[in-house]
Amino acid sequence: MGKLEGKTAIVTGSGRGIGRSIAVKLASEGANVVVNDLDADPAQAVVDEIVAAGGRAAMCAGNVTAPDFGERFVATATSEFGGLDIVINNAGYTWDTVIQKMGDDQWDAILDVHLKAPFQILRAAQPVISAAAKAEKAQGVRRNRKVVNISSIAGLYGNPGQANYSAAKAGLVGLTRTLAKEWGRYNVNVNAVAFGFIETRLTEVAADGGATIDIEGREIRVGINPQLLAAMNATIPLGRPGTPDEAAGSVVMFTYPESDYVSGQILVTGGGYEG
Ligand SMILES: NC(=O)c1ccc[n+]([C@@H]2O[C@H](COP(=O)([O-])OP(=O)(O)OC[C@H]3O[C@@H](n4cnc5c(N)ncnc54)[C@H](O)[C@@H]3O)[C@@H](O)[C@H]2O)c1
Repeated sequence: MGKLEGKTAIVTGSGRGIGRSIAVKLASEGANVVVNDLDADPAQAVVDEIVAAGGRAAMCAGNVTAPDFGERFVATATSEFGGLDIVINNAGYTWDTVIQKMGDDQWDAILDVHLKAPFQILRAAQPVISAAAKAEKAQGVRRNRKVVNISSIAGLYGNPGQANYSAAKAGLVGLTRTLAKEWGRYNVNVNAVAFGFIETRLTEVAADGGATIDIEGREIRVGINPQLLAAMNATIPLGRPGTPDEAAGSVVMFTYPESDYVSGQILVTGGGYEG
């Protein structure tokens, strides 16, 4: 029997990268998983992968920044699986430039996806979580629920070219610490994981000037140049970037019963790199 049997998890941006690994790992421990991504095809592929492995998953595709997304996401968990136990705020992308070239739209887009969307999702989850906690208390039962917000070393220490992203990821740390205090009464553990350098589409080597991603019709350049990559590897004590599975492992451990007395913490998953 898995550690998360009977629990229901919602994971944003789980069509690829770290989010996909988180969704697959949660399902392999027995959780029901609602998979979300901006891109429906990779999200459906993750649902299919989980179901083919004998797990349970449902899809809630769409942009996490849509005003009604939080309600729709939470409703998918309750209608498909009858509850909500684990919320993972992972979706996001980078849109980098130095501050003097950064437009308001660029600032707003990154704050919206990395900070406002998690706020809206958690706000939508509150009535479900508080009602469940109240019912469990009346039955004399304590059931821990878990929130893990995905931050970044950039949010803790800053990173040139990422004023928008660093500010958003720092804001997520504040949201994490505040909700740990507000939601302790519901037996919810709220923690964050700040990644260093994990090998995904977001950080793929961009020798030819960079990969682009499509955010609702807008082509946005991501990726890092090979010189920066070599320099980064030299500063990581473990000497290499992390894999999506390694990154996911450090998130999923916060959802296990072993972490039921850990809340309001920010774990740096960076191979020893501290910024
Ligand atoms: N890769 C790293 O080194 C690194 C470092 C620090 C933090 N992070 C964070 O980890 C998280 C996952 O990133 P990743 O490296 O796996 O990137 P990724 O690009 O491989 O995966 C991110 C997924 O999120 C989805 N997504 C993006 N915007 C979305 C939106 N508005 N609505 C719904 N889905 C959306 C994308 O379609 C994609 O499938 C992000 O929050 C990122 O900021 C990554």
